[in-house]
This record gives sequence, C-alpha cells and structure tokens, in this order.
Amino acid sequence: MRIVKTTDYKDMSRKAANIISAQIIAKPDCVLGLATGSTPIGTYEKLVKRYKKGDLDFSQVRTVNLDEYKGLTRDNDQSYYYFMHEHLFNHVNIPEESTNVPDGTASDGDSECVRYEALIRELGGQDLQLLGLGHNGHIGFNEPSDSFAKTTHCVDLQERTIEANKRFFASADEVPKQAYTMGIGTIMQAKKILIIASGEDKADIIRDAFFGPVTPRVPASILQFHPDVTLVADAAALSKIPE
Ligand code: F6R
Repeated sequence: MRIVKTTDYKDMSRKAANIISAQIIAKPDCVLGLATGSTPIGTYEKLVKRYKKGDLDFSQVRTVNLDEYKGLTRDNDQSYYYFMHEHLFNHVNIPEESTNVPDGTASDGDSECVRYEALIRELGGQDLQLLGLGHNGHIGFNEPSDSFAKTTHCVDLQERTIEANKRFFASADEVPKQAYTMGIGTIMQAKKILIIASGEDKADIIRDAFFGPVTPRVPASILQFHPDVTLVADAAALSKIPE
C-alpha cells in the first residue's frame, strides 16, 4: 500500500483528484467506482474545476457507485443518486447513461443486487475504485461482521449508522433501515483502489485497518491484501500509524 500524507483536507482533495485525473487521462473510457459521504466532496470539486478549465474530459468515462439507500427515490436529496449529480455528474460532460448507482426503488431487491453485480462485470470491473472509510472500518455499507460479503447485497443498517445519519433527515424514523452496497469482493476486484481520509477522528481506524490484523470485524482491513491501494490521508488522520 502506498501512503500519501497531505497537510490537510484541501491538500488531500487535490492529491486524490490528481490520481483520478491521471486515470481518466491514461484511459479516457475508464470505469470509475465512486463513493459518497463527506470525504470525497472536495475531490469532486477539484475534478469539476479541472473539467471546467478544459483539462479533463468525462465523455467516455463510465461510473459505478458503491452504494444506495433502499427505498429512497432519485429526487430525494439524501439519496446517493442525488448526491452524485449534485457534486459531480451535473457539472461535467459525462452522459447520464454512463453513470450507475444501485436503484433504491427497485421492487425486487435480490434482482437489483444481481443486476448491479452483473453490470459491473459487463463493464469490465472498476479501473479505479474511490473509497471513504467509516469510523468502524466500513467500506461502502459493508459493516463489521463475521465474514466478508462477496457481491452486491442488501444490508440492514446498524443502529450506530442510523444514529450518525439521522442529522440529514427530519427524524431517525425517516432514515432508511436498509441499503444496497457492493460487496467486499466487488470492491476487491477493482484494478486500483484509492482510499481517502481526513481528520483526527479517523486516526484510530486507519491504524487498525491498515496496521492491524485482517478481519471482517474491520472490513477495510481486507485492503491489505489488494495489490494496488493508495491511501491519501491528511496528517491528522495518519497521526496514529506506526513509524
Ligand atoms: C459512501 C460510503 C461510506 C463512506 C463512509 C465514510 O458511499 O460508502 O462507506 O465512505 O461512511 O463517510 P465520510 O466520508 O462521510 O466520513
């Protein structure tokens, strides 16, 4: 694993955007696996700026998002479909049909998981998968558990995740209780992985995930087995890693 230490969130965003830009320039029709959450917002901002300057072309890029809440419609401002359009897709020249997010409103959840997994395979898998890191080590919505989930599946959100997300909804009751997520296997098949983290509150989990034992109790720890991972994190997030 390569570790890129940055001074702060802004610097992390710039360096992460550099890596994604290099991927798009090297392979204009690449498949990007994308994440939502607060960490990648600055990275998406930088990519939009570079597109507007004429330095990046998204016309042939295809994207697959990690996850989506079950039951939220696309126009719900808490859906990940909405997030991706607000922060990236609406501001660059990517064709709508080249972007993919699990369909939170699918009537048959099992079929939606099978469809999404097959779609990623048909696209040839992710050339580069962007990831954020949850405080408990989750990646996508793969929460700590007794085993690593292989493929796209539907998860019951943990009470802690519902609590953490309720600030975005009118009440805890409105927070979806389930979500679709790529499996750990789906993530691990990406040719390259870029994981980003910022802030002191991520320092413990960075140490545990990348310098502790590989265990499904810390889902991100599996990334230690991936041959091409780059962790871009700021000094605060890296403050507890061993010398
Ligand atoms: C988002 C996702 C999540 C987040 C994680 C970190 O698509 O899959 O795993 O990456 O919860 O979230 P932030 O960036 O808000 O700390």
